[in-house]
Amino acid sequence: MTQTQPTKLDAAHFDSKARQWDDNPVFQERGLKIAQAIRQAVPLHPQMNALDYGCGTGLLSFPLKDELGTILLADSSSGMLDVVAEKIAAQGVTHMTPMKLDLLIDPPPAQRFDLIVTAMTLHHVPDTDQILRIFHDLLQPGGYLCIADLDQEDGSFHGPEVDVHHGFDQADLSRRAALAGFADIRFQTVFSIAKELATGTRDYPVFLMTARRA
Ligand SMILES: C[S@@+](CC[C@H](N)C(=O)[O-])C[C@H]1O[C@@H](n2cnc3c(N)ncnc32)[C@H](O)[C@@H]1O
Repeated sequence: MTQTQPTKLDAAHFDSKARQWDDNPVFQERGLKIAQAIRQAVPLHPQMNALDYGCGTGLLSFPLKDELGTILLADSSSGMLDVVAEKIAAQGVTHMTPMKLDLLIDPPPAQRFDLIVTAMTLHHVPDTDQILRIFHDLLQPGGYLCIADLDQEDGSFHGPEVDVHHGFDQADLSRRAALAGFADIRFQTVFSIAKELATGTRDYPVFLMTARRA
């Protein structure tokens, strides 16, 4: 019997989801809960220049926009960025900029940031150590990194056909972040996603890791 190889969820996949993304109340609530936890963990201020990596439609950045200086919203999906651009225009926002960017492929922006936030994107990035090193290089000394993602799970969140990280073990991610040059690494649980599986309802906790560039 031939087995289907798991495939990555590429930019075309996220392009096809972009128009309906904000219709999902769980995505909306998740963005708000992560934003609230970041607000409590990081001293945000209107001079801070932020990068939201894997921004999707901006469900994390829009709730934080009045507390930050500039926000670069970066994603590898043009469809997601089209929605971001429309929301920026509709709200008359002048300090948020969408950018098509895959930091494992494209040259990094020349700018340095005071804050990098990334929600539910790390599990889609194949090389965790590489992206942590890139985040480190993109931050100003003392700058903050905030990663929200799934706790380690058994692969049932996306299913066997999808090739992604099965969440992250907090101790292992902490060790990797320290090796990449981060300090003050802290974790908290900020949300839980309930999914209906054939075996019943299952909860997938979402952590927020905060760290500083040493
Ligand atoms: C699960 S969605 C999360 C979107 C948004 N952060 C949110 O919380 O609603 C993952 C996002 O990461 C983006 N993404 C995946 N791999 C990426 C990469 N290598 N570089 C940039 N963005 C990526 C996808 O296009 C998608 O918008």
